[in-house]
Amino acid sequence: MSSAVLPRREPIPIAAETYVIQAIHGEGEGPLAVHMNAMVIRGREPVVVDTGTPVDRDSVLEQVFGLVEPEDVRWIFVSHDDVDHYGNMAALMEACPRATIVGSWYLMQRMSAEGPMPSPDRWCWVGDGESFDVGDRLLRAVRPPLYDSPTTRGLLDPVTGVYWASDCFATPVPRATGFVDEIDPDEWAHGFTTFQKWNSPWVEMVDGPRYHAEVERLRALAPRTIATCHGPTIGPAMVDRAFELLHAVPAAQVPPQPGQPVLAEIVAAMQADALAPA
Ligand SMILES: [Fe+2]
Ligand SMILES: [Fe+2]
Repeated sequence: MSSAVLPRREPIPIAAETYVIQAIHGEGEGPLAVHMNAMVIRGREPVVVDTGTPVDRDSVLEQVFGLVEPEDVRWIFVSHDDVDHYGNMAALMEACPRATIVGSWYLMQRMSAEGPMPSPDRWCWVGDGESFDVGDRLLRAVRPPLYDSPTTRGLLDPVTGVYWASDCFATPVPRATGFVDEIDPDEWAHGFTTFQKWNSPWVEMVDGPRYHAEVERLRALAPRTIATCHGPTIGPAMVDRAFELLHAVPAAQVPPQPGQPVLAEIVAAMQADALAPA
């Protein structure tokens, strides 16, 4: 699918000078779709948080540059080395001459297989628990309890209380959705649990008390709003419920992922369509 046929999205304000850059894949093609969001913090030194997928490039750049001029972007925080998070990093770095990538040594190493990386003097390495100064606040990198890459760090803004959770706290949705309270609570719980477990299947091997302590490590930082790449934003009234759901993930039963029989059905339907008279 090319970006030209994806519907344009609008940034969603979620806190003071903080916007979710919306994208969604699969909307209208099945019962559930998945967001591929990014975020902008428009402080003294504007920050782009994750960068979206290549197929959403036109929409992502249009939304970001509708909020901040390219020459004013100072930081591009990349949460981890999955293409739905770094997919427009190079395009943003090219468009934003004053921007620095906030990554890590390991992130840079793992991404270097893609091709030439931006020059080392355009990088800042920030690991879990470390902070960087964006002029009017110190943003803190905090690894979420669940993730699918060893490079993953979320991002906590102490001014607004917004935590960017990368892949964590995600849920599929029937259609593009701004906030979790716009969907049915049971559907949220089911989608949330299924997404976490499919994306971090290793959670079943984790010692229970260690896992719960890691969830509480994040909760102790008192995020007031949780934004995620792959779901609606969790506003202040829903944060406690989100942490309850996260604690429950290891013991939860979730459906299996579609397997070969489903693919065979898809192929058979395609072949039937091809044979049908026009
Ligand atoms: Fe990921
Ligand atoms: Fe992701």
